[in-house]
Amino acid sequence: MEFSIALLKGDGIGPEIVDSAVAVLEKTAAKFGHRFSFTPYLIGGCAIDETGIPLPPETIEGCLASDSVLLGAVGGPKWDDQPGNNRPEKALLGIRSALGLYTNLRPAKLYPALRSASPLKDEVIGKGFDIMIVRELTGGIYFGDRGYREGRYGQEAFDTEAYSVTEIERIGRAAFESAMKRSRRVCSIDKANVLESSRLWRKTMHELSGKYPEVQYSDMFVDNAAMQLVRDPGQFDVIVTSNMFGDILSDEASQITGSIGMLASASLGETTRGMYEPIHGSAPDIAGQNKANPIATILSGAMMLRYSFGLSAEADAIESAVDTVLSAGWRTADILGSTDGTPLTCTEMTEKIIEVL
Ligand code: IPM
Ligand code: MG
Repeated sequence: MEFSIALLKGDGIGPEIVDSAVAVLEKTAAKFGHRFSFTPYLIGGCAIDETGIPLPPETIEGCLASDSVLLGAVGGPKWDDQPGNNRPEKALLGIRSALGLYTNLRPAKLYPALRSASPLKDEVIGKGFDIMIVRELTGGIYFGDRGYREGRYGQEAFDTEAYSVTEIERIGRAAFESAMKRSRRVCSIDKANVLESSRLWRKTMHELSGKYPEVQYSDMFVDNAAMQLVRDPGQFDVIVTSNMFGDILSDEASQITGSIGMLASASLGETTRGMYEPIHGSAPDIAGQNKANPIATILSGAMMLRYSFGLSAEADAIESAVDTVLSAGWRTADILGSTDGTPLTCTEMTEKIIEVL
């Protein structure tokens, strides 16, 4: 089969890790007899440098014209002085919204080989964990009304959290559908003891849960969820939550897997076109040094094959190659335990995975 992929390499380690994922995708295509074409577009700080804005219209058009999108990371200290609406991060929100990608899947599972890299005690990890965080991605406080106004103590800045039943239902359905293919448990996370938007969220999720009798449904306040994730992560299967809570909880979930350098994500909407990216940032401190862990981006490429192209066997092949390489003891610096020897570079790790493929 033939597929066109838009590449948004972005800033910092973005170009290195996207190149790694492309190399793995090329190898997969060759092995299974497919053809992938790759077209790069500017996003983030590099787009500001070239065009003055973080999300040029050609980038949006290019993504809309392709079958799927692979993204590295955006941002860095160089662009910290940009005004709020011209920051590299704004491009990420812009492209998610322009492509209608309201569902963000962030799987956080513990690789047995990386058990010792997890900061959690052995008895807390227990049999391990495999969590799918389903984060709402195009609504909530990230997109609500904002600005400055005169407040009780003088000038104040404000952002607003708002959710409609339609937005809650469609992310809820994505979570329940995902749970049907997994262990059939959904935990919805909110702050319904304080926020009106969370109360509507909870009521809507409860109603929706009635349509999925096979799925065991529960809800939890976000502060408790943050605690439960480090107390007993094995209790979770699918977590569904708002844009901001999902942002925070997915970073926490990534840490307990051992490294944020391992976690992939898929952003999906109503069509098969999705955007796939590691959940970590642009890591400007190690950019250009060939030290980054490419696995999160490589696994994002695997998610693209599975969710956008329907190529599950190919996705499985990439995921199992990653498993094999980790089980054989190969590590990048971020997942290096105290006894693990010399770390591999980004390109060396990529080559190891390609060799196994
Ligand atoms: C993420 C990131 C982004 C987000 C930032 C860079 C805008 O933290 O994808 O988790 O908050 O969504
Ligand atoms: Mg984040």
